[in-house]
Amino acid sequence: MNSFRFQAKTKILFGTGEISKVAEEAKAYQARDVLIVTDKGIVSAGLVDQLTRHLDDANINYIVFDEIEPNPTDSTILRGAEVMKAAQSTLVFTIGGGSPMDAAKAIAVMAANDGPIEQYCGTGIDPWPNPPAPVVAIPTTAGTGSEVSGAAMVNLVAQSRKVDMFGRTIQPVTAILDPEMTVGLPPNLTAWTGIDALNHAFEAYIASYSSVFSDMIAEKAIELAVNNLHRVYHHPNDLEARGNMLIASSMAVMAASAGLGVVHSLAQTIGGYYNAPHGLAIATCFVPGIEYNLGVEQEKLARVSQIMGTDTSGMSLDESARSVIPALQNLLDDFDIPQGFDALGVREKDIPKLAEIAMLDGCTPTNPRPLDEHAFIELFQQGLAV
Ligand SMILES: [Fe+2]
Repeated sequence: MNSFRFQAKTKILFGTGEISKVAEEAKAYQARDVLIVTDKGIVSAGLVDQLTRHLDDANINYIVFDEIEPNPTDSTILRGAEVMKAAQSTLVFTIGGGSPMDAAKAIAVMAANDGPIEQYCGTGIDPWPNPPAPVVAIPTTAGTGSEVSGAAMVNLVAQSRKVDMFGRTIQPVTAILDPEMTVGLPPNLTAWTGIDALNHAFEAYIASYSSVFSDMIAEKAIELAVNNLHRVYHHPNDLEARGNMLIASSMAVMAASAGLGVVHSLAQTIGGYYNAPHGLAIATCFVPGIEYNLGVEQEKLARVSQIMGTDTSGMSLDESARSVIPALQNLLDDFDIPQGFDALGVREKDIPKLAEIAMLDGCTPTNPRPLDEHAFIELFQQGLAV
């Protein structure tokens, strides 16, 4: 029997109007002064007001740090940490997509610890000496799953690289999944982030550390994403579908403690090198990456194909597994997704360097079919030739 690992931590509060629970959360952590980490788009959409009015009602002091940009930089995080220290905040609320949620975790670390931020990035699990303040996350997109993960991507500008901070102590203590917080998301962003969630579940399902725990969660997350992606894209105000996508997104990242795979290796490499949006890069790399894995985990690939609606009765195992590709293509066809890697900025001359970076990606070791530099070169070339 294979050994495996699985870990869960975050309390999940789900439901329409659950944002009203923020004051209870602050009280549970005896917090009188809290920091709110977000971006200007979330402020202007009125979502931060929905949070602060409940804090006002409970006489809890707060300060809003709304300077988070896409792919938050080290300098922005350090500025946020200074604001947090000055305000003596003992709890962090974060409301937004993956960037504010990741930044909030990193800000909590840097407010409690001295030294250059680089020493805490890509240097193991909980490498900081002082525990950071707890983080409560309120996602406004259904995709990254950052609200239940212990990872925070930091853009180290001087080194031109994006590196994960990772720790159990930065995994949010609570995730408030309120579907009303996601209804304003534009259709393309809804689709791309939702496809990222579907991919987390799919790659976790076949990843090399998968187990009965992660499989059960991954299967349900795939089903929820498959059944609700088109609904939220075409009917943005459908709260039930929005809620289902939020659940799928959180579940998918919980399952991803089993690891991810080649689609993320490709997409993160391209995203880092050319600054392409993560969800769009995932959507573009999804089919080529799964095609690479067709020869392995065939029973699971067949199961995903069935969840996507394929009737595999009468097919051999190999045919059933392969049928996941047209099923996936069919699912993705409805959305505005470019066909080739060139649309993400990829250039032929960069491929050897990209393959080198992809080999070092944290998702590469857990892909179910082994990868080497040669395999990545072929994948990038095929992605360009579409
Ligand atoms: Fe992702």
